[in-house]
Formats: sequence, structure tokens, C-alpha cells
Amino acid sequence: VRMWVFEETVDGQPLSGIINSRHENVKYLPGIALPDTLVATPDLPSLGEWADIFVFVLPHQFLLPACRTLRQQRAKFRSGAYAVSLIKGIHAARRRRGGGGAGGGLVLLSDLIRQQLEVDCAVLMGANLAPEVAQETFCEATVGSRDPSRARELKALFETNYFRIGTTSDEVGVELCARAEKCGGHWGRLLRRPGLRGQHQGGHHPVGPDGNDEDRTFFESCGIADLVTTCYGGRNRRLAEAFVKTGKPISQLEDELLNGQKLQGPQTAAEVYTGLQAADRLAEFPLMAAVHLICERRLAPEKFIDTLRNHPEHA
Ligand code: 13P
Repeated sequence: VRMWVFEETVDGQPLSGIINSRHENVKYLPGIALPDTLVATPDLPSLGEWADIFVFVLPHQFLLPACRTLRQQRAKFRSGAYAVSLIKGIHAARRRRGGGGAGGGLVLLSDLIRQQLEVDCAVLMGANLAPEVAQETFCEATVGSRDPSRARELKALFETNYFRIGTTSDEVGVELCARAEKCGGHWGRLLRRPGLRGQHQGGHHPVGPDGNDEDRTFFESCGIADLVTTCYGGRNRRLAEAFVKTGKPISQLEDELLNGQKLQGPQTAAEVYTGLQAADRLAEFPLMAAVHLICERRLAPEKFIDTLRNHPEHA
């Protein structure tokens, strides 16, 4: 396995070199022994001709530039190469200038990968937290792929006795469940019931290409279970609490509490807000809108209760 590392200097040494010599990511996953077969490289283009499967698991704000770099190696891709995305979030495409409304809108991250790299892309999402997976605590996840043989292959590759994988052909549903959870899942007990409803609604909203409405997906690991996991244990929830209690900016809290890791929730909330605004549908999703406005400090956190009080569901 070759892992692209965005190079940075840690204690005077390049992080990729430290990972390869000590077999430990001392900055982002300290204390966990990585297998000797994992090789870190800062050279992203070299991976274009090397990979049978591109596993995308980076903060989604870096996805488009990474895809654009890899795309330049498109002619060298191995035949049959495909991708699998573990990234939660959504991409708000910019409207083309003078496009008169053409372009823009919300794009699934797997679609972004498909469009940029011209390869197929499955998804893997679930009720698990990275440190727990690293510590080999029992967890579950869901692979979504329209191609059953690909779903079987990914299950065989990723599954261990502590990481169990279910499969479904509803790849859009799997990804949208995860996206909705990142947008509004981490705001506490009160939000959970309407949050669940929003996730259900958002998970099957015709944002995706085929409007797949398999309710079953919601009960896979990527659905309710993932929402509960995130509400209780995730980084987004922890930082959201600190954001409200300390009044510090999110970027400062990322440095102080996450050693510089980037949260996915605020950015996803912003992108969803932009997409709903462009479609003139903000009023239908007041909780998602409020999460973004609170992140931007345009709405006081205490006012969130009013959003629930006045939710269209109570009208
Ligand atoms: P964060 O730690 O980024 O909040 O994510 C938790 C999660 O996605 C659980 O599946």
C-alpha cells in the first residue's frame, strides 16, 4: 500500500520519512504501529501509474486539487483501476461565469472523483472512529457499489475480524447518509431526532444522479449507527462543544485540540448551505442552515433552540 502524505516537517524531519523509518505517523496517529508494507510518499503523481485501487481518505477540501494532480497521469493509469472514497462531505461546484444558472450545485465527492479521474468509484462509510479502528476495537462499515463483484472485492480487502463490512448497491444512499451526518449530526441531543429526519430526507433527496430510495441503507452501519457514533464520539462533536463554550475560532481549536487536523463538518455545512441557497430551498432545511450560520458566528448558538421551535415540522 502506498500512502500519499502531504509533506510537512516534524521535529526537523519530513513526515513521510518518519513514517517509513519508524512505521508510525507520529503527528496524526501517534502510538499506532503501521504495517511495514505501508509506504508513505509525498509524490502524488507517481501513484497514478502505481495504483490498482485509489483509496481516497483525505479532508474533502483537498480532494479536488489532489484529483487534478492525479488526472495529469490519466494516460498511465493501470487498466481496470478504480477508486473507493471514504470521505464524508459534499462539493459545491462553482457556477460558471456568465453561465446563466448553468453549472453549480452540489456534487457527490465520488462523482467528483469519477469526473476528474474517469474511473469508477465505490464508497465505504460507517459507524466508526479512526482511533478506534487503529486500536482494532470492533467496528462496522458499509461498502456501496453498483458493481457486486467490486463490492465483494472491497469487502475482502478491507474486512478483518475487528472491522466488519456490509455491502449494498445503493452507493448514493451510503454517501448521502454520511454527508448529512457531517452537516448536522454533531449538535447534541436536541438535534438528534430532527437530525435523523434530516439525514433520512437528505440521504434520499434527489441530489444524487439516480435518486435511489432504498430505506434499508439508513439501517446499515453508514446510516443511523454512524450518526450516533458521531454525536457521541467524533472530533466534530468535540470541537463543536469547544467552539460554543470557548468562543475560539474553529481553526484555532483544530490546532489546539486536533494537532492541526481539519474538521469536515463546518465545510460540509457551508457547501450544503450554498447548494440549498442556490436552489432556493433553505427554508426546507432550517437545521442545516442554522448549523452553518452558527459556524460562521452569524447566529448565536442559543438561537438554535428557536430553529427547532419553529421547525416546519411543527407548523
Ligand atoms: P469525526 O471524528 O470527523 O467527527 O468523524 C466521526 C465519524 O465520521 C464517525 O463515523
